[in-house]
Amino acid sequence: MRLIIVSNRMPVVVSHKNGDYQLAKGAGGLVSGLSDFLKSIEKSESDLNDYLWMGWPGMDIPKKDEDLIRGKILEKFNAAPVFLSQELMDKVYFGFCNKTIWPLFHYFPTYAKFRNYYWSEYKKLNEIFRDELLKIIEPDDIIWVHDYHLMLLPGMLREAVSNPIGFFLHIPFPSYEMYRTLPGDGRNQILEGLLGADLVGFHTHDYSQYYLTSVRRLLGVENHMGQITLPDRAAKVDTFPMGIDFEKFNGMKVCEKAPRKPGAEEMKMVLSVDRLDYSKGIARRLQGFEIFLKENPQWHEKVFLNMIVVPSRTKVSSYFALKRRLDELVGMINGAFGNIRWTPVVYQYTSLPHSELIAQYRNSNVALLTPLRDGMNLVAKEYVASLTDKKGMLILSEFTGAAKELGEAIIINPNSRGAIANAIKGALEMPEEEQIKRNELMQKRLKRYNVFRWADDFVNTLVNIRKDSQETSKKKKYTPEIADNLVKDFKKAKNRIIIVNYDGTLVPYQEDPAIAEPGENLLNLLEELQGKENTDLVILSGRSRNDLDKWLGKLPVGLTAEHGAWLRSGTNPAWELFKPLSADWKQDVMDILEMYTDRLPGSYIEEKEYSVTWNFFKADVEQADFLAREVNDHLVSITENINVQVMQGYKVIEVANSGINKGELATYWLSKKKYDYVLAIGAGWSDELLFQTLPECGYSFKVGQIQTQAKYVLKKQQDAIKLLEMLKES
Ligand code: UDP
Ligand code: G6P
Repeated sequence: MRLIIVSNRMPVVVSHKNGDYQLAKGAGGLVSGLSDFLKSIEKSESDLNDYLWMGWPGMDIPKKDEDLIRGKILEKFNAAPVFLSQELMDKVYFGFCNKTIWPLFHYFPTYAKFRNYYWSEYKKLNEIFRDELLKIIEPDDIIWVHDYHLMLLPGMLREAVSNPIGFFLHIPFPSYEMYRTLPGDGRNQILEGLLGADLVGFHTHDYSQYYLTSVRRLLGVENHMGQITLPDRAAKVDTFPMGIDFEKFNGMKVCEKAPRKPGAEEMKMVLSVDRLDYSKGIARRLQGFEIFLKENPQWHEKVFLNMIVVPSRTKVSSYFALKRRLDELVGMINGAFGNIRWTPVVYQYTSLPHSELIAQYRNSNVALLTPLRDGMNLVAKEYVASLTDKKGMLILSEFTGAAKELGEAIIINPNSRGAIANAIKGALEMPEEEQIKRNELMQKRLKRYNVFRWADDFVNTLVNIRKDSQETSKKKKYTPEIADNLVKDFKKAKNRIIIVNYDGTLVPYQEDPAIAEPGENLLNLLEELQGKENTDLVILSGRSRNDLDKWLGKLPVGLTAEHGAWLRSGTNPAWELFKPLSADWKQDVMDILEMYTDRLPGSYIEEKEYSVTWNFFKADVEQADFLAREVNDHLVSITENINVQVMQGYKVIEVANSGINKGELATYWLSKKKYDYVLAIGAGWSDELLFQTLPECGYSFKVGQIQTQAKYVLKKQQDAIKLLEMLKES
């Protein structure tokens, strides 16, 4: 099996200097973490033993040099470049990705810029990646798409291939309130794009929940513990906190002479490492360090802050503005506190290879990482892992994904400069035994859930989900062969019964149920089907008998209203009760429901003769979910001692007499004759009981949902009509 990694960045960035192309390592956690994992695949003896990494080479390569670059990158990095023009990258990478999504997803809405052409170019970028992938995907490949540059790609690929598709977001997914501020079509299309994947992964439980909430509230798609049922397959949303290659950081031998103590022998080092990014809280950190120096003169000339800042996205204005601000702050602090023997802040604007970085990690006494938001922050993990003597203390912002796993660090809120200052003092003065104890616990955790476990977990979960989903959809797929059998059996049967649900099956679901009337074609179809020899047609509905009378009353078909309270046979148009029922309880239930209806805008009550339905389809999902539980408990408590049942359906709560449901009623209709052909079609939650009661030899179909007791699934409501038409013609 081959794993195809797809990300905007590849492990290599191409640049052009002095008439020649140069290849350098890409910056950031995505490249860093994935590169370590992929090296392990090369040595792997498992089924997954091959990979290809697809991404942007980092610059506009002239057409004539594309083959040269492609060859070099494939040979050295097992990667395939996706060539993009500078113009497109300027609009996408420097536009939608880093001026819209990045600030919004990191809770910097004031930095976010919204332009229609950013969005259309973003779609174009995703299409280009799709087209390149479609040229190379083979049936056995596993596709794993990464990060916010390619959020539409899973959906685009899902339409074209049946391979397992995974997606992982390396940055935070913001809360619903932040996400919904994204204007235009992008807001829903991004959520849908991700749902094209079989598995969508996030670093933390919160990010997964935030995504699921946005999916519920904006797309109206529900989930059960992260499992999402789509019409033709299942998708899962889950949490996979990215790890590091612990042994590499812990075990690497490095040059011990790495710069540590400029000046005095006793000088302690506080280290920080990040890309130059406003999300990293670098200015706040400097101000915290300044307060620390102000408040703690006893530490003057005994400590310095070693700040490694990696150049990043320099074409985006908020980034170069930050660069200027940092230069100023460093100059100010050094000017105010420094002297000829001591430079309080050493600032390196560069990127170091891991061997040098590890030396810095080991030689520092404290790591000070203060992001205002960070999806994970691998540096924090790398720092702890690198401390072979377990001496040193991590100060970490609570707004990083890593803080969820590194609870023994000094966790701070970086919005408080005072808290940063106190934490520096606390870390510098922490007894060594305490440092060792804390680091030991963290190292144990990092060692166990390392980057290999992370990737293995993700890929295995992905493959299993896809397999299950394909098996279920294969099992439940309505194929031409099944259609043939359906007709063949229909023709040879002596007594046929067809039981169909109304809303969602015979007519499409409507926002306003009052307008879901049948058209003439449908009425003709039903009449002709009923008119076929030895055929009984029964319509099982939750609607009132008035509705059914009004719309279907003239047809000579069997009707069932209120989920089974009322019956009308095809030959006698008089309605009769299925069994003696009571409505004495109704007023009490209505009183309660009216109270909740006032509390939940968009909800309404449907009163029928022997049942009451509280419908919250149009209400705010979160609020409705919360209240529905209360309503259910309340109704159950007042109906406990009477013969009344409370049922929870899809966005409805229904109260009815006990023993009234579509299952009971199907049994009743089936007992009327000795049927040798049974067909049932339904679309709603209440039809599941119908499917359960059918004889094993019967045919059952559910419209639009693969998770069902029915034997087969029909994709759309119109497919139900087509099926009935086929039988009519036979
Ligand atoms: N890094 C590096 N050289 C440097 C600074 C950082 O190789 O000089 C690597 C670092 O080891 C880490 C990654 O860059 O693996 C940064 O990842 P992180 O998740 O901390 O932040 P991101 O840049 O992805 O926001
Ligand atoms: C973060 C993002 C990555 C990105 C990296 C470096 O880690 O999640 O997708 O590659 O930053 O940023 P850059 O813009 O240089 O790719």
